[in-house]
Formats: sequence, C-alpha cells, structure tokens
Amino acid sequence: MSQSETNRRIVLASRPKGTPTTADFRLEHVPAPTAPEGGVLLRTLYLSLDPYMRGMMNERAPAYTRSIALAEVMPGGTVNRVVSSNNPRYKAGDLVLGNAGWQELSVTDGKDLFPLGELAQPSWALGVLGMPSFTAYVGLLDIGQPKPGETVVVAAATGAVGAVVGQIAKLKGARVVGIAGGPDKCRYAVEQLGFDECLDHRQPDLGKRLTAACPAGIDVYFENVGGAVFEAVLPRLNVGARIPLCGFVSSYNDENLPPGPNRVPLVQRVLLEKRIRLQGFIILDHYATRFESFRREMGEWVAKGQVKLREDVVEGLENAPTAFMGLLEGKNFGKLVVKVAADQGSMAA
Ligand SMILES: NC(=O)c1ccc[n+]([C@@H]2O[C@H](COP(=O)([O-])OP(=O)(O)OC[C@H]3O[C@@H](n4cnc5c(N)ncnc54)[C@H](OP(=O)(O)O)[C@@H]3O)[C@@H](O)[C@H]2O)c1
Repeated sequence: MSQSETNRRIVLASRPKGTPTTADFRLEHVPAPTAPEGGVLLRTLYLSLDPYMRGMMNERAPAYTRSIALAEVMPGGTVNRVVSSNNPRYKAGDLVLGNAGWQELSVTDGKDLFPLGELAQPSWALGVLGMPSFTAYVGLLDIGQPKPGETVVVAAATGAVGAVVGQIAKLKGARVVGIAGGPDKCRYAVEQLGFDECLDHRQPDLGKRLTAACPAGIDVYFENVGGAVFEAVLPRLNVGARIPLCGFVSSYNDENLPPGPNRVPLVQRVLLEKRIRLQGFIILDHYATRFESFRREMGEWVAKGQVKLREDVVEGLENAPTAFMGLLEGKNFGKLVVKVAADQGSMAA
C-alpha cells in the first residue's frame, strides 16, 4: 500500500424520512489508517448490502441491533484481504470475513474476523455460504420444519434468503411456491431454482393465484416481506401451519402504521383457529449452536450444485447507496453485493 493512499468511506449523513435518498449518505476521502498494535489493516473486496441496515439508520433501531450515529461509517459484512498485520493470528494476504462496513480500508483488533482460507468465489461468504443462507437454513428447518409432500410458500423468492429457502424445501421433498416481483424473477425461480411455481406479486389477484398454485393449502409460509403478500397468504394457511417470521421488508421504510381498520383480531383468530405457529427469529442467536452444521450441509449442497444463489454485483463503493435503496424496492435480482476492490490474490494484498 502506498503511503499516500486515501480511504474512501460512506457515512450516514442524515436519518432518512421514509425512503432513504442519496442525501442521507456521504462519501468521504480520509487518510488511510495503519494496522494498530495487536491488530490488522484490511482491504475490502466485497461489501454485503442487507435490509437490516435500514432499521439501523433510524434513531430508534430495532431491539436486536443498534442505531448508527450520524457521521459514522455505514456498517456491513465484508470479505477482506489482510493488508498488514500486528496480530499473530493473521498475516498479510489472508482472506477473511469481517465487519468493515462501507469503506475501502479498515482496522480491527482481529476478534471479529473469520478466516476464509482460499474460497473459489470469495463473495459467496456473504451469500450462499454466509448469513442470508444461514438464515434460510435455520428459519426453514428449525421453525418451518417442512415434511415431504407439504406446500411451502416463500416471498422474495429470488432474493438472498428466499432463493435458498425454496431450494432447501425442494431438497426436503416439499412443493414450493415462490412469490417474487416481476416475470423475470418468477421465470428464474422455476427454471433455474427448481420451484414448482412462482407468482408475481405485482400482478392483480395474488390470492386467487395462490389458491390455484396451492391446491392443498399452505403448510409453511416463510415470511420475508409482510404487507399485501402476508394478507394474501393468511387465509390459505392450513391447520397446523408454521410461519418462520424472518422479516417484513415491505414496511421497513414506513414512518407510521398503515391506515385502515385494526386487523389484529382477524390475524389472531386465524392463528388460533388454525393452530398456527408463528415464530420470529434473529439469526445472530443461532451461530453458536447451528453454524457448524449449516457450513457442513450447505457446503455439500453447494458443491453438488443442489443449492445456488445468483449474485447481483454492483461495481464500486460509490454506488452502494443507490444499490441499497434499490434493495428496499426489489430492484436487486439475487444476493446484492458491492465489489469494492479487485482481488489481487494473497501475494499482493
Ligand atoms: N431474521 C433475521 O435474522 C434475518 C436475517 C437476514 C435477512 N432477514 C430478512 O429476510 C428478508 C430477505 O432479506 P434478503 O437479504 O434475502 O433480501 P432480498 O430478498 O435479496 O432483497 C429484498 C427483496 O424484498 C422484496 N421486496 C422489497 N420491497 C418489497 C415490497 N414492498 N413488497 C414485496 N416485496 C418487496 C424484493 O423482492 P421482489 O422483487 O421479489 O419482491 C427485494 O428484492 C428481509 O426481510 C430481511 O430483513 C432477516
């Protein structure tokens, strides 16, 4: 690394009112940091963009996370090369999974790093071999518990979590119906991911089309989006259905509750009458107990080509804000990652 190199980073400039805009982010050029005593200097190769970041931009963040301070670097999972190290566990050139956030260079004491060895496709550590895929694995297998012949419905079906949910459900012998935004995504879910059907939630009469696609009703609904999709699914759930409540991205930009009558009693009645189990989960809680089995099993499925995840790769850190805003509107097609720097390999970090 040259002495004069600067670090480009993106910080939170203001808190969004509803949908974020580019003015809520600021690109800064600052002097490059150096490895601290006992720590390492990292270069970011890939940055993961994920819906949870939206909640962190609010002054009152969801309880499972924290609020980003104004002028703080936007956080995020990253794949990095170690540039230089004063930590005996890492050496220059190592490929690591980190939390460097939206910046090109960063320093850490090394405690939050996970060595990756030499992955054929390093960005997979943020997707099909990483957090979103692990979320799909735990949510579907531990909460959804699909049985052969049952019907599983998953929303955001071609996204990072949803695509993996549907493919695991197929491996477990279920009938899988995806819900996605637009004909290209729906075609992809059926032709490339092997779903039995996929319905476009942007077209009218989603409820009627769900009835036709799920003639035996719905046994597992993997909830990623909420809103109108949840309303269409709810009356079609079977007695004893399970709902892993993973997220509700359609509401993340909302400032207020939606107008209209209070539907809580209606939802409670359906849950009770049909003995439905709806369970929220936060994937951070499950690393200690489930990550090793995920790594082994998902590693085999990916190696055999039984599970795959399309990547939506955006070039350049400066494009992260626009890409992130698109994620909250369904503009991504597959796992959204930013390619921050070209990988020069382990010898030229
Ligand atoms: N509980 C946890 O620990 C945990 C961990 C990771 C992720 N999650 C949650 O899992 C969900 C999926 O995350 P992901 O990373 O896999 O994202 P993703 O599916 O790759 O991207 C988000 C997708 O949501 C859909 N969407 C966005 N706005 C929508 C709207 N108004 N109505 C319907 N669909 C909309 C879009 O897909 P379409 O164009 O197909 O509609 C968009 O592509 C999110 O809710 C996220 O918060 C939870």
